[in-house]
Amino acid sequence: MRDYQPDWRAESEVRRARGTLARAAPLVPDSNIRELHARLAEPAFLVHAGDCAETFRDNTQRSVAKRVSLLRTTSDVISAKCGRSVVTVGRIAGQYAKPRSAPLERRAGITMPSYFGDAVNDADFSSAKRTPDPWNLVRAYEHSGKTLSYLDGSGVFTSHEALLLDYEEPQTRHSADDGRLYDHSAHLLWIGERTRSPAGPHIAFAAEIANPIAVKIGPTATLAELLSLHAVLNPDNIPGRLAFIFRMGRERAYDLSHALLTCIAAEGLVDRVLCDPMHGNTVVSPAGVKTRVVAEIEEELRAFFSACNDTGVVPGGLHLEVCSDDVSECVETNVDDTYLATNYCSVCDPRLNPEQTLHLAQVAGSLMAPQRHFSSWLEATSISTARAGT
Ligand code: PEP
Ligand code: CO
Repeated sequence: MRDYQPDWRAESEVRRARGTLARAAPLVPDSNIRELHARLAEPAFLVHAGDCAETFRDNTQRSVAKRVSLLRTTSDVISAKCGRSVVTVGRIAGQYAKPRSAPLERRAGITMPSYFGDAVNDADFSSAKRTPDPWNLVRAYEHSGKTLSYLDGSGVFTSHEALLLDYEEPQTRHSADDGRLYDHSAHLLWIGERTRSPAGPHIAFAAEIANPIAVKIGPTATLAELLSLHAVLNPDNIPGRLAFIFRMGRERAYDLSHALLTCIAAEGLVDRVLCDPMHGNTVVSPAGVKTRVVAEIEEELRAFFSACNDTGVVPGGLHLEVCSDDVSECVETNVDDTYLATNYCSVCDPRLNPEQTLHLAQVAGSLMAPQRHFSSWLEATSISTARAGT
């Protein structure tokens, strides 16, 4: 599984599926990609959230409407608390590919290929369903188009992990307007923690396209790596082009973030820095279920905001895995298999339910609120001074 690309086996079918994608209409127009780029160049806060893995099965108008509603409420809560305007980008309309640490999964003595997202295979644990099928790339394109039609007019931009080069490359074209290359599969593409090597094919691909790019930054990332990612992806230091998504794990979040943020500030990098407080805090329950503890997620969130505060870097956004149904995938404080068994639906990582999501939105909003208190205090004193003067 070189560079986390699927073992498609059927090479000629991959070529045909790529050809179909290359001839297909653009999913998102480059004008909308430029619009997001411009929004991200402003000092707004970025809410970047959604499913770990979307599924074709859940791609219904009702499900999309509920997901959008949770994204918008999350953004509204943060904006109301801190007074900053918020840009909302969903992990939506194309989040169909997953990098997996283990290529094989074993259940009750049976071994199958792991689930790599609906763009590759199916989560059902059977040999037929788990075999990678290159035509799933075309199905992912069609489903993304369907989701986009449901999203129309929602004000939510789209994003997914640019993992499958057989999916992204054929959708990359020169713009008739500015001659630059755009990947029309989504507005924003991110490169995951496993594929972010500055010399690897994913970063090389991201460097070619003009879409806003995000890169996950985990605990092993060095200052030198961060700087070379910046040099490759944003050599002209353009606002709105690049975001780093820190996902360090709660224990080391403050120290690691502090070191990288100090470097970002010292070098004058304009890149946005987001906190993903979830991916560094995944644990396995006694029964073997992947989960995350909300109290630990909150701890990383607080550590990130403290590190921003102490280094003078403006917190650029929050990256979360969320579900608009009342799922029981993340636990409050104690890992409890009885609770996890009540409504665990994710086909990949555990997501926050709406209550947990909005709690963290409140926390993030209030961690940015002091500035707001200060300005409303100023406003109050100038009003009272003005009154006193009349
Ligand atoms: C993800 O965002 O679902 C993911 C796989 O994250 P990371 O690359 O940070 O592990
Ligand atoms: Co995930």
